[in-house]
This record gives sequence, structure tokens and C-alpha cells, in this order.
Amino acid sequence: MSEKEKENVTEEAVMAALSEVQEPELHNDLVSLNMIRDVKIEGGEVSFTVVLTTPACPLKHQIEREARQAVAAVPGVSSVNVLFDANVPSDGRQRGLLQLPIRNAIAIGSGKGGVGKSTVAVNIAVVLAQTGARVGLLDADIYGPNIPTMMGVRQLPPPKDGKLVPAEAYGVKVMSIGFLVKYNQPLIWRGPMLHSAIRQFLTDVDWGELDYLIVDLPPGTGDAALSLTQSLPLSGGVIVTLPQQVSLDDALRGLEMFKELNIPVLGVVENMSFLELPDGTRMDIFGSGGGERLAKRTGVAFLGAIPIDPTVREGSDRGLPVVISHPESPVSQVLDIVAKDIAAKISVAAMKGSNFIPIDLV
Ligand SMILES: Nc1ncnc2c1ncn2[C@@H]1O[C@H](COP(=O)(O)OP(=O)(O)O)[C@@H](O)[C@H]1O
Ligand SMILES: [Mg+2]
Repeated sequence: MSEKEKENVTEEAVMAALSEVQEPELHNDLVSLNMIRDVKIEGGEVSFTVVLTTPACPLKHQIEREARQAVAAVPGVSSVNVLFDANVPSDGRQRGLLQLPIRNAIAIGSGKGGVGKSTVAVNIAVVLAQTGARVGLLDADIYGPNIPTMMGVRQLPPPKDGKLVPAEAYGVKVMSIGFLVKYNQPLIWRGPMLHSAIRQFLTDVDWGELDYLIVDLPPGTGDAALSLTQSLPLSGGVIVTLPQQVSLDDALRGLEMFKELNIPVLGVVENMSFLELPDGTRMDIFGSGGGERLAKRTGVAFLGAIPIDPTVREGSDRGLPVVISHPESPVSQVLDIVAKDIAAKISVAAMKGSNFIPIDLV
């Protein structure tokens, strides 16, 4: 045993080292934020758990590296084992009328259909579930309930204790208006019907505890979003658009709808941005940069540009989200970044009101 290893490592010394490590987005140190749990010291071997505000934290590796370095520099430490856990904060808006154990609801909207709203909703939900978050996906698109097809689920399991049980696919709990109406039955929705349907999706469905509920909104009018906000305040909304002007005009209306309903806008995603040709050049089928310009002009974040990729369409027809079928593809990489960015933005907003992570939030 070397001289260094003989020194007694104390929990105080470990905590002092970790109090020098910053959480890059919350602008405070890991100890002040109450992010460190279960410090164990055996001789020179130190292990501890870092409790993140989201398991989808995009800066997890940076935090791990810096925490490891800081503790490794404590005299007597021979090895450092950094474990992770997460406690997703709720922004408090969730203390809505229904008092559901859903910590954050995120609406995915667009000005009109066919821009990839459901595709973005599905893949974001799957990415978040893959990180270990508890995720629900609510298909509230009464005009085109495509989520069951895209997630490859045909029907709901039998109801339990008088409640609907969501289907489950890729670790995501799925509920859709499509499960409740007959295939190819024309849907005519009046405002009160839509309102009660959406409310039932929240009250009569056994979601269990969720970190994130991703909601695929119907395009256009704000009826569904309004019903949602009256039942379960939304933590944020994301707008999906194509790059061309006509789609941007619609997207702007979507953005304004979120603002009117007091739903914080998390940002704009531009879909079908470009097609990469076999020689590596990019073809801007629908123009380019429109989503980014819209974001700039309206003062919201630009979350990412998703290329056109035929495998997206093939997979969604077969119930296979692209982040599952082609996780390494450029499309999936953008979707991965977008999902984690959304989770981070929600956490940062939720943490603004408090200055540490409570031991238990519910
Ligand atoms: N980036 C993309 N590349 C290729 N096809 C896409 C892409 N995004 C969406 N699609 C396809 O375009 C169609 C419309 O997308 P969808 O998500 O259903 O739009 P919305 O929900 O806005 O109506 C679907 O067939 C989908 O698979
Ligand atoms: Mg759709």
C-alpha cells in the first residue's frame, strides 16, 4: 500500500471536493443542489450517487467526469465509482385541477398535419424512456390518431379497477383516441365531446407515476390544448414545422396558441429539412433554415433540424420508431439531442423556483 492510500478518506473531504463541481445548467454546485447521495468509503475506494434532475440529462458525462476528477484528487482516494439516479422535478404548474402524479406534460403541436408532429412525439417519448424516465404518450390528435400504428400497438389491455390501462411499447405507456373509435369510422368532434375525451384520457387512464407525458396535439385550432391546460397544466410546448414559408405561417399560429394559453414554448423543431444525397451533398427539398428563422424571430429556442430519411416513413408504418430501428442514423441523432434538450429545459425551468433537489417530490 502506498503512502497515499493509507490516508483516511472522510465523507467530509469527499463532499468538500464535490462542492467544487458545478451543475452546468443550474449554475450551482452538486452539494448545494443536494445532488449527492449514498457516499460510501472503503479504504481508498469511494462511491457515490449523483441525483440528476432528469435521467435524460445531456450533460451527464461532463458531470460524471468532473465529479470523478474532483474526488480522485482527494488525498487517499484510490478509485472513484460514480452512480446515477434521477428525480425529475415538476414545475409546480402540474398542481392542476386533477392532481395527477404526472410530473411534466409536454405538448407537441404544429400548424397543420403532415409535418411530422407524431413522428417527433413518438421518438422523443422513446428516447426519454430509454434513458430510464417514466414516460407516457397521449395521442390527442382526433383528426389523425396515428400513434398506435407508429408504436406498433393495436389494442389496449383489459381495463383494471374501472380504469383504462395504457398499451405499452418500447418502454412507453401509450393511449390514443384511436383505441377507442373504430378504424375508418368518421370522427366528428364537437367542442364538449373533445373536452370530455381529453379529460377522460387523464382521469380514467391508469398512467401510474410519470416523469413525462408527451401529448401529440391535433393540428390547427387550440381546442385540445385548451382542454388539456384546463385539466393538467402543461410544462411546455414544442412546435414542429417544415422549412417552407407556408408551413412556417401555420407554425407561427401554433406558437401563438401556446403563448395565449400560457404554455411555455420549449422551442421549434424543423422536420424534413434536407435530403442527403449518396454523394454527401444536401438537397433542400422544402427550402432551408425556415425553422431557425422562425425561432429567432419569435424569441424561442431552435431545437434541431431533422433530415428527410425514407426509413422514418417505413418504420412508422411498421410500428418501429426510427430511434429503435436506426439509432445511429443522422435523423435519430437529432431526435436524441432534441429529446434530451427538452428534458433539460423542463428541469431547468422547474428548478428555477427551488434551489435544491428534494429527497422525494411526491
Ligand atoms: N424526417 C422524415 N423523413 C421521412 N419521412 C418522414 C419524416 N418525418 C415524418 N415522415 C413521414 O411523413 C409522414 C407524416 O408524418 P407524421 O409524423 O404523421 O406527421 P403529423 O403528425 O404532423 O401529421 C409520415 O408518413 C412519416 O413517417
Ligand atoms: Mg399525426
